[in-house]
Amino acid sequence: MADPRMTLAPRFVAALRAAFGDEFAETDPAIRRSERADFQADVAMALSKRVGKPPREVALAILAHLDLAGICDKVEIAGPGFINLTLSPDWLAHEVFAVAHDPVLGVRHASVTETVVVDYSAPNIAKEMHVGHVRSTVLGDSLARVLEALGHHVIRQNHVGDWGTPFGMLIEHLLDLGLGELGHEDALAASITDLDAFYKQARTKFDAEPAFAERSRQRVVLLQAGEAQTLALWSRFTQASKRYFGAVYAKLAVTLKDEHIVGESFFNPKLPGIVGELEERGLAETNNGAVCVFPEGFTNKEGARLPLIVRKGDGGYGYAATDLAALQHRTSVLGATRLLYVVGAPQQQHLAMVFAVAKSAGWLQPPARAEHVAFGSILGPDKKMFKTRAGGTVKLAELIDEAVQRAAAAVAEKNPALDEEARAVVARQIGIGAVKYVDLSSDRIKDYVFDWDRMLAFEGNTAPYCQYAHARVRSIFRRANPGDVTASATAHVLLREPAEHALGVELLEFGAVVASVGQTLQPHRLCTYLFNVATKFNSFYDQCSVLKADDEAVRRSRLALANLTGNVLAKGLDLLGIEAPDQM
Ligand code: ARG
Repeated sequence: MADPRMTLAPRFVAALRAAFGDEFAETDPAIRRSERADFQADVAMALSKRVGKPPREVALAILAHLDLAGICDKVEIAGPGFINLTLSPDWLAHEVFAVAHDPVLGVRHASVTETVVVDYSAPNIAKEMHVGHVRSTVLGDSLARVLEALGHHVIRQNHVGDWGTPFGMLIEHLLDLGLGELGHEDALAASITDLDAFYKQARTKFDAEPAFAERSRQRVVLLQAGEAQTLALWSRFTQASKRYFGAVYAKLAVTLKDEHIVGESFFNPKLPGIVGELEERGLAETNNGAVCVFPEGFTNKEGARLPLIVRKGDGGYGYAATDLAALQHRTSVLGATRLLYVVGAPQQQHLAMVFAVAKSAGWLQPPARAEHVAFGSILGPDKKMFKTRAGGTVKLAELIDEAVQRAAAAVAEKNPALDEEARAVVARQIGIGAVKYVDLSSDRIKDYVFDWDRMLAFEGNTAPYCQYAHARVRSIFRRANPGDVTASATAHVLLREPAEHALGVELLEFGAVVASVGQTLQPHRLCTYLFNVATKFNSFYDQCSVLKADDEAVRRSRLALANLTGNVLAKGLDLLGIEAPDQM
């Protein structure tokens, strides 16, 4: 059962029914973790009004019927009417043993498993991936892993921006550089490794040379008409970009692969049909030649209705039409009932309008629903948008390299005995772990300030802190005598010391925390949890000898507790997309 609340709650419900009657059987006992005891039930406070008695009296009435024999050793009323619950060490030990022997460590499948589309990363071809895309990539990847662990069928969709008017000038620039012919793939890939520079060169030429601009415009027409040679050039170009994205994903160790790329271009042939359907249903209006839908409830400051433009005045289709086509594809072809969009907060209104239009068009009907998993910005030390010292956008690839370099320096200082090869591996795990963890550990909707020293610190709510606790566990096992290690795998768990008790209670929470991330889509809850596990483990390790415990049973129990801690930390970090080195 793992989560003690699952055992405690039905007992409370029975007591509520006995004390106040059947109509109270649905009441939430409101049991939560507490600092003073293991758990605290707040139900008496909530019920006080309903039954017309002071909370303390309500609590007494509940206690008169509450049967927690064998589960809790101490049940006390505190303050105005909180019910404090202290788990019995034997019951707790029994549950900890069960989780330790559960291959999924208490992470259960959701009661209803569904097909979930996670739209994340979505960089733009011909533009550099920047730190803004780091958030989407890291958050989305973690959510995909968590939802999979909860038994859902997750479909990753990388909605890359690979279509639109800039491709006209990009293709012409490509031809001017003589890279259009087959056999130049490597040179092409090299020249667009610096995508921003390539884009800027094309842009500068576009602005300065009318002939080039004209060629570019004609190229757009050819592209949109699907002219074969133009499409071939375009695709050579996007292939090179995908290679670059793939390299970044590999570096970041995210689960996003080439096959998840379903870019804007994929939906291009479907756009006339989408607009046609909106027109047929009478949802579209023509406004200055543009086809618009005005979803209900969206107005500007002056109260004027806001349009979602599905076809522009020049006949071209834009971002909104593509998003509608993608949404329809996700519900009808992919069969998803939960659609997640891991996209920055500035696109809130765009997505809300897309969802509203999709609902009225019948493409998004219950049980299917869409959620914008919005996130804030990464800020520099000056609390403004994160920029390089020269004022440019920070490139993702460079950021990752710097993280790994800095981690290597930290590891060299912390563990000089580590050989060079091992150090390089650990530095990568710590550096990338730190970049991901800092992004995941604060409430995603908030902006955060990028701070190398804080994110790479071995103290505090950081990746290295959690990774270090895990490495500590593994190091205990390297030093333990083999007989104890073997015996610990089946050893009885004994929780006599307060630090053991506290760690045991924490370890039982893993499944509930993962489930809550699946619901709220807030990975920071998992970070906070892992930080707590690491902290409780460190107190346990300070206060209780493991290898030096005289009593064999105690020694083996402590090894078992340490091992479970290590497993929970490793699995939890894995759900965040972070590796857990065995030594660091
Ligand atoms: N390519 C877009 C950008 O870089 C993000 C796309 C997000 N996904 C979507 N379905 N609109 O801003």
